[in-house]
Amino acid sequence: MKILAIETSCDETAIALISVCGKSASDGRAKDGLGSPINARPQLKILKNFVASQIKIHRPFGGVVPTLAKREHLKNLPFLFKKLIGKNSAESNFLWPIDLIAVTTGPGLEPCLWTGIEFAKELYRKVKKINPKSKIIGVNHLKGHLYSFLLSKEILKYKKLKDVFPAVALIVSGGHTILLLMKNLTEYRKLGETRDDAAGESFDKVARLLNLPYPGGPEIEKISKKGNEKAVNFPRPMINQKNYDFSFSGLKTAVFYYLRDNQKKETINKADIAASFQQAVIDVLTAKTIKAAKEFKAKTILVSGGVAANKKLRLTLKKEAKKNNCAFIAPPLKFNMDNAVMMALAAYVASSKKEKTKISAKGDFPL
Ligand code: KG4
Ligand code: ZN
Repeated sequence: MKILAIETSCDETAIALISVCGKSASDGRAKDGLGSPINARPQLKILKNFVASQIKIHRPFGGVVPTLAKREHLKNLPFLFKKLIGKNSAESNFLWPIDLIAVTTGPGLEPCLWTGIEFAKELYRKVKKINPKSKIIGVNHLKGHLYSFLLSKEILKYKKLKDVFPAVALIVSGGHTILLLMKNLTEYRKLGETRDDAAGESFDKVARLLNLPYPGGPEIEKISKKGNEKAVNFPRPMINQKNYDFSFSGLKTAVFYYLRDNQKKETINKADIAASFQQAVIDVLTAKTIKAAKEFKAKTILVSGGVAANKKLRLTLKKEAKKNNCAFIAPPLKFNMDNAVMMALAAYVASSKKEKTKISAKGDFPL
C-alpha cells in the first residue's frame, strides 16, 4: 500500500510517500497477539521524503515561536507537495495510487497541527475522487518516534518481528521522555516518563544558559567533544529511585547555579560544563533503560526521538545493552528528528490494527 504522510507538530514541515507491505508470517501470530500483516517485518520503501526545517526562523528567539511556526507550515506545505509530485507528473496521476493519507494529530502545537490536518483533508478530498477506497488517518506523533526503529538497518536482520520483543523503548525528544515496555508492536505499556522537563528541553535550556544557539542538543553535543565530562559533578536526578520516571529541571537549575557561582573564575570552561551536563543526562537515561531491560528481561532496547541523535547516548546505550545481552536498535540519525516517514509507518501499524482516530488537533495526546 502507498501511504502519504504529513507532519507539522512543531517546527519541521515534513511530507513523505512510502510504499509498504507486510508479508504475513506463517506462524506465531496468535502468540504475538499481532494482527496480520504486522507480524512479519514490514517491507517498506521510502519513495519520497522531504523536511523543511524552520531552525533559522526560530533561532533568534531561542526556541519555537508557535505563530511563526504555523505561518511557515502554511507556506511550506504546498511547496513540499509540489516537490513531492515532481515536475513531470500531473497531480491526478500522482494521487491515484495513494491508499492512505496520514497526518499527525498530536501531541504538538495546536495551530501547527491544524495546518497539517487541513492540508491533509483537502488532499484526501482529491484522492478520494480518484480512488474511492482510499482512507485518511490521524496519527500520534509519539507513535511515529516509537516505530521509527523499523527504519533501522539492524531490523533487516530480523525475519520475524516477534524476535525483537519484549523490548524496552526509550523515546527522548524535545517534548517527551518516556520509557515503555513493548510486548509486541502494538501492545505496550508506559513504565515511566519525565515529571518536568523533557531530556531535549533540558538540552535546549542548558544551551541557552551557555549562550549556544537553538536547538541546543546538537550544539551541546558538538562542544562537549572538546570538554571533560568529569569536570563538574552535576546531579543525576532520580537515578537511584525505584521507578522509571525522570526529572531534568533540577539538573538544568544545577547548571544555572554553577554558572552563577563560578562566573568570575578563569577556569570556567563552557565545553567542560556542556560535557558534564550531557554525561549526567546520558547516565540517567542509560541507568533507567538498562534497569527496565533487566527487570522485564527485554530482548531489545529501542531508542528514538531527537535526543537519540546524540552519538554518545547511542554508543553508551549500545554498549550497556550488549553487556546485558540485549540487542540495540535505533533509527538512522536523520529519522530521529521529526519527519513524515515515521508518521507513515505509524499509520501503517494503526491501519493494520484498524484503529479509528478522530482527525482533530490534540496538543496533549498520550501514547
Ligand atoms: O524529536 P524532535 O525532533 O522533536 C520533538 O518531537 O520534540 O526532538 C527535538 C529535540 C530538541 O530538544 C533538540 O535539542 C534535541 O532533540 N536534539 C538533541 C540532539 N539533536 C537534537 N539532543 C541531544 N543531542 C543531539 N545530537
Ligand atoms: Zn518529535
